[in-house]
Amino acid sequence: MTLLTFPNPHQMALSIRATALVFEDPKSNALLHRIQLVAPSEANILIVGETGTGKELIARHVHQLSHRRNGPFIAVNCGALTDSLVESELFGHEKGSFTGAVNSKEGWFEAANGGTLFLDEIGDLPLPTQVKLLRVLQEREVVRVGSRRPIPINVRLVAATNVRLEEAVAASRFREDLYFRLSVAVLQLSALRDRPGDILPLASHFLNIYGNKLGSPAVRLSPNTESALLAHPWPGNIRELENVIHHAVLVCQDNLIQPGHLHLSRMESRSGPTKATSREEALEDAIIALFEEDSPYLYAKLEHAIMRTAYKYCQNNQLQTARLLGISRNIVRARLIHYGELNPKTQASEPKAETSPRMAYPELDTAFAGALNASVHPKAAAPVVESSHPARHGGIASAVSPPVSDTVCLY
Ligand SMILES: Nc1ncnc2c1ncn2[C@@H]1O[C@H](COP(=O)(O)OP(=O)(O)OP(=O)(O)O)[C@@H](O)[C@H]1O
Ligand SMILES: [Mg+2]
Repeated sequence: MTLLTFPNPHQMALSIRATALVFEDPKSNALLHRIQLVAPSEANILIVGETGTGKELIARHVHQLSHRRNGPFIAVNCGALTDSLVESELFGHEKGSFTGAVNSKEGWFEAANGGTLFLDEIGDLPLPTQVKLLRVLQEREVVRVGSRRPIPINVRLVAATNVRLEEAVAASRFREDLYFRLSVAVLQLSALRDRPGDILPLASHFLNIYGNKLGSPAVRLSPNTESALLAHPWPGNIRELENVIHHAVLVCQDNLIQPGHLHLSRMESRSGPTKATSREEALEDAIIALFEEDSPYLYAKLEHAIMRTAYKYCQNNQLQTARLLGISRNIVRARLIHYGELNPKTQASEPKAETSPRMAYPELDTAFAGALNASVHPKAAAPVVESSHPARHGGIASAVSPPVSDTVCLY
């Protein structure tokens, strides 16, 4: 596991949560590589990702990898600034420039001089402020509200958005020229559900943090809990995972987190509901088509298709097939033998011809496979083995969890 720790993490404005970055999934490692390429340059960077994907941590990482690492890192959430104050906050103001401006004050650009200014939720900036921001970036100087004197600044800008700025540009809510100026380099953060290889390492990371903090350093995840974590769509991404683990550490017993201890949101991920619904609809359509064919032995055909698809999905592992379907292994075994998927003598699985004359229903298999994918992550059902890194992985690691490599602390 690649673990990047921040210098003096506990002095940072962020909580306990921001002490390190975990990168394990191939997508995250590719992103890390890209960050390492663009960070040392002076280019403005646009970080794009759903809420909770780690945009601010990535911005801090960019700063740490840049030549500005000894300068300030200032994070400003543009969405939290009111329209009337946003310009004075960013660019500063002179005494008496507006009601309430009792003193002159530097803005965030001046405060970040020599370092990095991170503008979060950049898409929320009002259009007039966007014009001024563009000017600041072009001229490399700010003019405080109520002043005419330009102040030179030396700031690297990293901006973040959780909405597609291209759409805001198309809707004339965001200036195109500013968009191009900001997005010299774009870092796209995948949603957690699209980088499943990060889920268990992150869970293990948060388990360590909260286990130690709450006095339960030996707390670990049961194999079923790992499966549940892998199957969840994580609409709130890493922030949600962190909160789920924090809660589970609080409520678990005997240092073992079971699925019932996970407080998983029922919100669907952005792409989740449509996919799942359409897959379930496809399954229903396939079944209805069979009804209309008035086909004989329909129940047996459906059951055979479920067993065959699940067994194949679990790479011919009876135990995992039983877990996936929520039935006993004996039933799985009996039904597989009944349908000729398993040889009762050897118990070894015999690959079956898809064209088995009595039972083949390829379209049904496809529909079931789609529905299985919608309801459970493929990795959730894979075999479980004991980990050789009990401390790192809470004692249990699934065979599909990414190999645990050495921790790398870059700072
Ligand atoms: N790679 C990571 N490794 C460890 N923790 C992470 C990682 N990425 C994010 N986190 C944690 O997840 C939480 C959310 O991260 P962050 O605030 O950077 O997300 P964000 O994308 O800026 O969210 P938002 O869009 O809501 O502002 C933080 O507590 C952070 O510590
Ligand atoms: Mg943020």
